[in-house]
Amino acid sequence: MPSNKEIIISGIKPTGRLHIGNYLGAIKQWVELQHSHTCYFFIADWHSMTDVYDPKTRYQEVLDMAASLLALGIDTDASTLFVQSRVLEHTELCWIFNTITPMAYAERMTQYKDQAQAQKKNVNVGLFDYPVLQAADILIYKATAVPVGKDQVQHVELTRDIARFFNSRFGKTFSEPKALLTATEKVMSPLDPEKKKMSKSLGDAHCLYLDDAPGALQQKLRRVVTDTGPSGKGRKSPGVENLFALLNIFGSIARVQAFELAYAEGTIRYAELKNAVADAIASSFAEFRKKKEKILADTVSLERLLEQGAVRAQKIARDTMREVRKKTGLSN
Ligand code: TRP
Repeated sequence: MPSNKEIIISGIKPTGRLHIGNYLGAIKQWVELQHSHTCYFFIADWHSMTDVYDPKTRYQEVLDMAASLLALGIDTDASTLFVQSRVLEHTELCWIFNTITPMAYAERMTQYKDQAQAQKKNVNVGLFDYPVLQAADILIYKATAVPVGKDQVQHVELTRDIARFFNSRFGKTFSEPKALLTATEKVMSPLDPEKKKMSKSLGDAHCLYLDDAPGALQQKLRRVVTDTGPSGKGRKSPGVENLFALLNIFGSIARVQAFELAYAEGTIRYAELKNAVADAIASSFAEFRKKKEKILADTVSLERLLEQGAVRAQKIARDTMREVRKKTGLSN
């Protein structure tokens, strides 16, 4: 049992395949945190409904994400893994939080504004309310720390505000959780390494997926724009910089040093560097791909694991709701 008092929660939307930015920016830390903390990790399928999506493939996407998380090392003996929509209490708490969240606070959320811009034809109320549901996700487990990327810090701040509003109106119930900033290395798109972070919204060509076969990685990296060697300015071009950054993360020190030397001497062959990067990434996730395939081949066991996770999460969520209902006058 974890001895540390921190209670950690984080969620991820089931939007297709994980890329190396998702892995380095989130899941890697989740796996590291689970053995020393009480951890809840969930697949945020309710949040995902605020985006444009296809209901026909959604359930499979949820299973796929669960399989990915397990294959990456989320251990259901050490942490609680569940699907958000199986713990109905999240939405109940969300409603109660809606009634104490000032409109002006929700209107400040930059992710809402960005997302509304990105999907002008589907600016739904859920999109606006998304951060309040996120606050419910977090506070229902009385979490103390939330590992998130920079883009989510504002939502954690709103969660702290909501905890405070609730406490002052109904009596001390929630403590204010802190954001645990996760992203260490910034992973850039191979096609626009100067300006764009690797992101699914840019399209598949911009993403190196954990599921990608070695050939697919090679093909994507082949398109990276390189340079003609040292420019005399002491700086690599963005495409080359990004290739070296990836090799640094996924490759061996010896390989990195060999290519650095070749670069300095002006003898580097970028086709070789690209293949080395593709190989390094592919072999880093070879085990993952095998494990994931095996997990997905037995969906009965996978469903059972998720069911157990939901039961475990629900136990805590129910306790919190019992307390919340009393304090808000919904029950006595
Ligand atoms: N909003 C998060 C994201 O887009 C996902 C999420 C939903 C989440 N609920 C959460 C993260 C609660 C941390 C805690 O990445």
